[in-house]
Amino acid sequence: MKPNIEAFFDPVTGTVSYVVYDQPGGRCAIIDPVLDYDPKASRTSTGGADKLIAFIMDKRLTTEWILETHAHADHISSAAYLRRKLGGKTAIGKEIPEVQQTFKKIFNLGPEFVPDGKNFDHLLADGEVLTIGKLTAKVIFTPGHTPADLSYQCEDAVFVGDTLFMPDLGTARADFPGGDARRLFRSIRKLLDLPPETRLFMCHDYLPPSRGPRWETTVAEQRVSNIHVHDGVSEDEFVALRTARDRTLAMPTLLLPSVQVNIRAGQMPPLEENGVSYLKIPLNLI
Ligand SMILES: [Fe+2]
Repeated sequence: MKPNIEAFFDPVTGTVSYVVYDQPGGRCAIIDPVLDYDPKASRTSTGGADKLIAFIMDKRLTTEWILETHAHADHISSAAYLRRKLGGKTAIGKEIPEVQQTFKKIFNLGPEFVPDGKNFDHLLADGEVLTIGKLTAKVIFTPGHTPADLSYQCEDAVFVGDTLFMPDLGTARADFPGGDARRLFRSIRKLLDLPPETRLFMCHDYLPPSRGPRWETTVAEQRVSNIHVHDGVSEDEFVALRTARDRTLAMPTLLLPSVQVNIRAGQMPPLEENGVSYLKIPLNLI
């Protein structure tokens, strides 16, 4: 059975979220949903997430899963908001405590934040198979961008998270804490060893001036034309290229707010005694 896939492109962060479902009136999984965030006013809003909700209501879908490919550093997740509105279980890779521990130190979070992954409903292991109504989705552990990245293989479609970008954009960066270009290369080769006709769905598109947004490609197309990892590029060549390129990249604009929320499965830090939730900004640390 082929999955039904609806993509939602967020032009502000270049993120693509997906609703994957078996049939109208059936079951769905949401992958990598975005919460709108205005950093100037430090104000969140739900216009983007509400579009997913409207689609899910229109198709009369029951939400089984709200899946993250990793703890994103470029956008805040709307997983907690969607879970409140739609139900479903949140899930992320079982290596997430490593990421939580790293950022607990960076943000000097207190004892209320326990880095054990338990703020997600379920932690996923490599090879685990999820059910989405009549569909199945297999978890593929694809670390490198972070130590806890997953891809989700649903029948002939794979949601690759931050591993590959579209062929003309190459690959995701590997210089965040715990990132590793060598591991990223091996994860990408694992994806490129899938059958050539496998459809690959990106988590981001950063819109080169020459074209509009795109998020779907195939293993065959990536192997021929991905500018960083087409067939013939060796692991050492990739590591040299990726490392050199990462040195030139600025930190993502929303890194600091995003990570603090995303390691909490999209929940905001606890309210302080004045009823306000605060994010922290470390000085001269990142
Ligand atoms: Fe990412």
